[in-house]
Amino acid sequence: MKKKTWRATLFSLAIGLLMLVSACGSTEKVNSGETDSKEKEKLRVVTDAAYAPMESMDGDKIVGFDVDIVDAVLKEAGYDYELVHVGWDPLFVELKSKRADIGISSITIDEDRKQTYDFSLPYFESINKILVPEDSNIQSGADLKGKTVAVQNGTTGQTVAEGILGKNNKDIKKFENNVLAIMELLKGGADAVVADNAVVEEYVKNNPNKKLKVVTDSSFPSEFYGMMLPKGSKIKEDLDKAIKKIVENGTYADTYKKVFGSEPNLQELEKQY
Ligand code: ARG
Repeated sequence: MKKKTWRATLFSLAIGLLMLVSACGSTEKVNSGETDSKEKEKLRVVTDAAYAPMESMDGDKIVGFDVDIVDAVLKEAGYDYELVHVGWDPLFVELKSKRADIGISSITIDEDRKQTYDFSLPYFESINKILVPEDSNIQSGADLKGKTVAVQNGTTGQTVAEGILGKNNKDIKKFENNVLAIMELLKGGADAVVADNAVVEEYVKNNPNKKLKVVTDSSFPSEFYGMMLPKGSKIKEDLDKAIKKIVENGTYADTYKKVFGSEPNLQELEKQY
């Protein structure tokens, strides 16, 4: 009897302690949330890391130009974050449902996407180019007619290919990521890949043994990448300020030179601001 009571006391003491501890925890959260929510909130940043040199996996690390840029921007804006490789289609799903806070993945700002998402200021200029075997007779976009073209599903590369071959043309092969589209070209299942210039140019440079070349069609539209945000995102203003800041203070140019080995065209970019 005596023993039991003693145990019960210990038990309720333990419960009491636990409650106290958890109460402390939550008080702290509420306080920090009220005073400085920006500093404490950890943003979820999502990407499709199969698009070197913009974003790719190096072992289990995500590396690339976009990775460095989002890091510099979020440091400048004072946000803590985690960057996660989720893949291209899931990235859109996560931003639509507001599970993720930022998508950075060489995402072109376009009217269609603007209906569903918000975008930061542009941070990179891009154009689609055509990747073909060295001995291909394809010399322009128009030459893609009657050919088989591999693209990453849901990209502006697909839109460009559809503009030439027609929207539901079976000769446009769509892949979950751009690496698979290039593999299709290499194994002879496609005559060309349409994708962003930085990516196809990098591929040719790094894989001379694959005997591929890049074809430019200057009638393809110029595009700008932005960080994609859920509609109504409250961090847009902070991000935009930070983007301008890293362009101004030279961080952007340093990152650009490190990845591409040349100077960025800042005038063209700043024209958009
Ligand atoms: N810029 C193109 C677009 O927005 C392609 C981007 C693909 N990005 C990637 N990480 N696979 O549609």
